[in-house]
Formats: sequence, structure tokens, C-alpha cells
Amino acid sequence: MDSVYLCRLDDIPDGTSRGFDPWREGRDTVFVVRQGAVLHAWRNACPHYGTRDREVPLAWRKDAYLDADRSSIVCAAHGARFDIATGICTLGPCLGQGLQRVEVELAPDNNIYIPPQGGRRPI
Ligand code: FES
Repeated sequence: MDSVYLCRLDDIPDGTSRGFDPWREGRDTVFVVRQGAVLHAWRNACPHYGTRDREVPLAWRKDAYLDADRSSIVCAAHGARFDIATGICTLGPCLGQGLQRVEVELAPDNNIYIPPQGGRRPI
């Protein structure tokens, strides 16, 4: 499997988040949070509800993965908060559970990719 291109670094303003559908599943299954030159990428699936076959997305609208002060990832369904860097739930109904990390690479040309097998669930 080849790397999957997501976007350019400038397409995610510093301190914001953006969702992607890298494997053409018909919805944003991955989101990326940018903190400077550091990128944190997670599967768009809340550990509170949902199953492997039916994931519950976190955002209430396109690209809205962060709370108002952009200090945490937030799930719109029941308000769980997640640490941006570790993906661990720090407040809410899934306290201590974690998001699934997706590996991303920032290339020297400032393009962002998911490397081969960098987070896709096995079929
Ligand atoms: S589904 Fe995310 S907090 Fe309940």
C-alpha cells in the first residue's frame, strides 16, 4: 500500500484541526491537530460509544475537533475531553481511555502523508 497524501502543512493553520477521508470511506475517519510543526493524528472514533464496525465520530461539524480554547480534543456527543498529544480522555464518560493514533509524516516539501499502514484498520 502506498502513502496517502492528506494536505500541505499550511492547509491546517497552527492550533487548529482538520478531518480527512484518506481511504475514501465516505466520511472523515482521521483528523489531524497541528501544534506548530508538530502534528497529532487520530482516528475519528470516540472510545466511549461505538464499535469496530460502527465508529462514533467526535466532531459536531466539519473539522470541529477542539474545544473553544483549543486546548483539548472534544467529543460532541457527551463532551469527553482528550489530551491532544496523548489522546487520553482526561474528562468525561470514557476517562482514561484513549483515541487510536494514526501515523503521519511531514515531508521536507511540507506535504503531509499517512505512510503505508499508518493507521488503516486491517480489513
Ligand atoms: S460518544 Fe464520545 S463522549 Fe460519548
